[in-house]
Amino acid sequence: MSVTTVHADRFAGKNVVVTGAAQGIGLAVARRLAAESARLTLVDRSELVHEAAAELGAHAVPADLESYTGAEAAITAALGHHGRIDVLVNNVGGAINFKPFTEFTAAEIQAEITRSLLTTLWSCRAALPSMTEQGHGVIVNVSSCATRGIHRIPYSAAKGGVNALTASLALEYADAGVRVVATAPGGTEAPPRKISRGTPTPRTAQERDWFQAHIDQTLAASLLKRYGTLDEQAAAICFLASEEASYITGTVLPVAGGDLG
Ligand SMILES: NC(=O)c1ccc[n+]([C@@H]2O[C@H](COP(=O)([O-])OP(=O)(O)OC[C@H]3O[C@@H](n4cnc5c(N)ncnc54)[C@H](O)[C@@H]3O)[C@@H](O)[C@H]2O)c1
Repeated sequence: MSVTTVHADRFAGKNVVVTGAAQGIGLAVARRLAAESARLTLVDRSELVHEAAAELGAHAVPADLESYTGAEAAITAALGHHGRIDVLVNNVGGAINFKPFTEFTAAEIQAEITRSLLTTLWSCRAALPSMTEQGHGVIVNVSSCATRGIHRIPYSAAKGGVNALTASLALEYADAGVRVVATAPGGTEAPPRKISRGTPTPRTAQERDWFQAHIDQTLAASLLKRYGTLDEQAAAICFLASEEASYITGTVLPVAGGDLG
């Protein structure tokens, strides 16, 4: 399936912000949205966001979403450029460390929560006022099936938080015309990352085993016994972001070959 041949006008006239759009799932979502006629703002803390934006005719906003001031600046820049935000895809996140919970330091636990929960919480807080004022909006959060997974417990907890804020924001802002939904990807194949998450290279056989164990557990939990593709993740995110999903809110959709997280 080519992303350029399906739903060509599904996002015509829609202003869409995608965070973490310089690579991986975020870039795949941005490519699909561009093929489906969205006006795009791409947010990322890597300068590679400019390359993605040039490829897709999008507006690039370099910003670090791990602080509220970064998220607020990114949303302000998106509103300044396109006037309103119809859809926000909160994709920034990703596990940094892979090891048993008791091996995590306090600083490492804090870093996982900051990367994979606070980025989404800050971005929702920054974007919701303009959505409620205009009386419509869609927020799609990218969670994870690692809510039930091993060797990245702080990340699992962060994504459990994303699921909770998705359900509760949907409840609180339904009357304001805002839908809040999420996908929970399973393991997803991607080209080697140009932008590192900061994951340390395993130094010992034990560290390599700890890393491998989370892959084995992810594969075992998938009924299809394989990783997904970037296109399979983007397809679900774009469906939830679109008007086709107008009766869906507060829902977390697992996209993980049958692993429910
Ligand atoms: N890849 C998987 O197998 C998988 C599985 C389940 C869930 N997910 C979730 O999907 C999302 C995307 O995953 P991915 O593997 O494509 O990620 P990735 O690490 O490949 O890319 C993340 C992007 O976000 C950007 N980013 C990171 N921190 C940022 C910050 N503080 N501010 C702004 N930009 C920042 C990076 O520069 C990068 O472009 C994440 O939320 C991740 O938790 C991924």
